[in-house]
Amino acid sequence: MNDNFVAKKVKNLAPSGIRAFFELVLGMDDVISLGVGEPDFITPWRIRETGIFSLEQGLTSYTSNKGLYKLRLQISKFLSRKFGLDYCADQEILITVGVSEALDLAVRAILNQGEEIIIPQPCYVSYGPVVELAGGVPIFVPTTEENGFKINPKQLESACTKKTKGLLLNYPCNPTGVSYTKKELEAINRVCKKHNLVVISDEIYGDLTYNHPHIPYPMLKGAKEYTIYLNGFSKAYAMTGWRIGYACGPENIISAMTKIHQYTMLCASIISQIAACEALHSGKRDVARMKQEYNLRKNFIFSSFNELGLKCIEPHGAFYVFPSIEQTGLSSLEFANRLLAEHKVAVVPGVAFGQDYDNYVRVSYATNYSQLKEAIKRIKIFMRDILKRNRFEYNKK
Ligand SMILES: Cc1ncc(COP(=O)(O)O)c(C=O)c1O
Repeated sequence: MNDNFVAKKVKNLAPSGIRAFFELVLGMDDVISLGVGEPDFITPWRIRETGIFSLEQGLTSYTSNKGLYKLRLQISKFLSRKFGLDYCADQEILITVGVSEALDLAVRAILNQGEEIIIPQPCYVSYGPVVELAGGVPIFVPTTEENGFKINPKQLESACTKKTKGLLLNYPCNPTGVSYTKKELEAINRVCKKHNLVVISDEIYGDLTYNHPHIPYPMLKGAKEYTIYLNGFSKAYAMTGWRIGYACGPENIISAMTKIHQYTMLCASIISQIAACEALHSGKRDVARMKQEYNLRKNFIFSSFNELGLKCIEPHGAFYVFPSIEQTGLSSLEFANRLLAEHKVAVVPGVAFGQDYDNYVRVSYATNYSQLKEAIKRIKIFMRDILKRNRFEYNKK
């Protein structure tokens, strides 16, 4: 077909930096993948059983555009119980097809053509494209390892222009695993307030934090009235394939998001919504069990990488570490390609999360312990070879 049929803004969209790499992974056998951003656990049985039973009962219809009232009510009660956050189930909560859809709706609901959204980097791969597709301009603010990969108020202040509409924040962060303290969030929030920003807070990993209290952004003083809080079931409940997320926010924003959602998605799957009700009803212990396991793996991976000279910051949450590969002298793509080709271990090149991160790779520890151990063994051999070769090259000069 004539290429002109493809819309310019889609044509101009940069392809995902990791697509070609993962096509390579898919074509190979016996690879230990530390690349994917999804739990290796399957959805807990009670949740699956509830989904199956809903089908047996013949519950196969559309639901209200906003999602099942029962699920919205449960989310409202969950947020109230856990954080003292008060969201009206009828007007301030929308059930979406994953956080992915909630994110898309949020930016589309707030952005006029050419308005800017500030996005701290490194960041989740979808953020830039989603903003661009909504006609907005992503303003990336690179953070550094020295600053714990966190945006600070000064950086935020200097990124603000007359066109700035909002801040897109994600903590615990994909790909670094770092989160913010209440004090740090409050400092950021003062700038948001001053510049009248909408804050889209992607807290999909909020339930997966380790020895670090998670503070939802709308809990900050005054912030609830300009925050779109996003969360979902994919990560904490191991429900990626069910595609259920939700957005909480001021009534006018949720209603604007619902307008787009009703014309584009209509509603999320009823089966998945019923299963999500069960997740909130009985899933607490399962979340705790999986979280405990991730924590053990995190400790192992974090200490192993640092021992191997692949320095990384200890993550506060999610299931990623973001080690520096600087001492290898390789680009992140070379590192990932060679580790895959020579030792069959897949990690994600850091450039996928921002062009300043070519000295890093993202490693997911949502992989079972024995595979992680084997992966570390292989990476150890890889590092020994690389450093030996580097010394040889250096001595030759
Ligand atoms: C930071 C972040 N936000 C959103 C998503 C999308 O999640 P969902 O499966 O709910 O669409 C992901 C998935 O990896 C993520 O890492």
